[in-house]
Parts: sequence; structure tokens; C-alpha cells
Amino acid sequence: MGLSTKAVARGVPALLLALAALAPGAAAFAQPAAAPAASTASTVTGGGVTLHSVSTNFPDSDRLFPGPAADAINNNCLACHSAGMVLTQPRLSRADWQAEVEKMRSFYKAPVDATDVPAIVDYLVGLSSTKQP
Ligand code: HEC
Repeated sequence: MGLSTKAVARGVPALLLALAALAPGAAAFAQPAAAPAASTASTVTGGGVTLHSVSTNFPDSDRLFPGPAADAINNNCLACHSAGMVLTQPRLSRADWQAEVEKMRSFYKAPVDATDVPAIVDYLVGLSSTKQP
């Protein structure tokens, strides 16, 4: 909770990179600890572990909500998570979608204008109608 899955997903490759940096240095555990390098260094060694700075660009989702009536949802619902977060949900009733949009507004402070809510809910109900019950 709190963090979007995107932020969590970004953490995973970073963790894997850190582990990959450690793997070839297994022998380093036998060496005495060196003094930590300056914070500007691209490599930091301490406690028998060497960490290398890496730079990487994580992919951003450029997936939009499809269809002709998707303007309201594309304008309001992509700031915090991907369209996939919504598109992969199971089929829901109108009342459930209404509650879902209200949850985004009230709990997660999604800045969605009240006048946009009906178009968003209509879109989501239409989306559900294309799914198996
Ligand atoms: C201010 C940020 C924000 C905006 C804008 C936002 N959401 Fe969310 N949304 C979240 C968070 C946070 C979660 C929960 C993520 C988690 O649990 O990992 C979430 C989860 C969801 C889920 C998954 C089911 C659930 O309840 O956890 C759906 C569906 C969803 N949002 C729909 C929408 C729709 C539709 C809109 C546009 C009206 C929207 N969101 C806009 C923050 C936002």
C-alpha cells in the first residue's frame, strides 16, 4: 500500500543489479575491509563488499486506455499507475466501479474533477461488459 506497483517494480531490477554486482565478488569476502570511498566514487568498498554505481533507465508504460470514450480516463487515471492496473481488473458492476473511482479520489487523493467521474465510470462499465463474468 502507499507505493504504486510501478515504484515497487522499479525496485526489483535495482535489487537484482545490486545482487549481480555482488555475485562475482564472492572472493572479496575473504579480503580485509577497505575504508569506504568518497560518496562521489562510482565504486564503494566496505566490509568485504564492493558496490558499483550503475545508471539505467527503467521503462515507462506508454499504454493508454483504448477506445473512443477514453479521454476522461486517460486524462485522470494515469498519474499514479499504468492503464494495465485498471485494464486487468475483473469484471465489476457499475456500483463497484463507482466505488473504485471514489476510493482513488478519497483515499489516494487522485485529483479527479467530480464532473469527469460519470464518463470514467461509464468507460469502466463498458470495459467490464467486454469481459467474461
Ligand atoms: C493519486 C494517485 C492515483 C490516481 C490518480 C489514481 N489511482 Fe488508482 N490506485 C492508486 C493506488 C495507490 C492504488 C493501489 C496500489 C496498490 O495497492 O498497490 C491504486 C489502485 C487502483 C486499482 C486496482 C484495484 C485497487 O483498488 O487497488 C484500480 C482499478 C485503480 N487504481 C483505478 C483507478 C482509476 C479508474 C483512476 C482514475 C479515476 C485511478 N485509479 C487514479 C492511486 C491512484
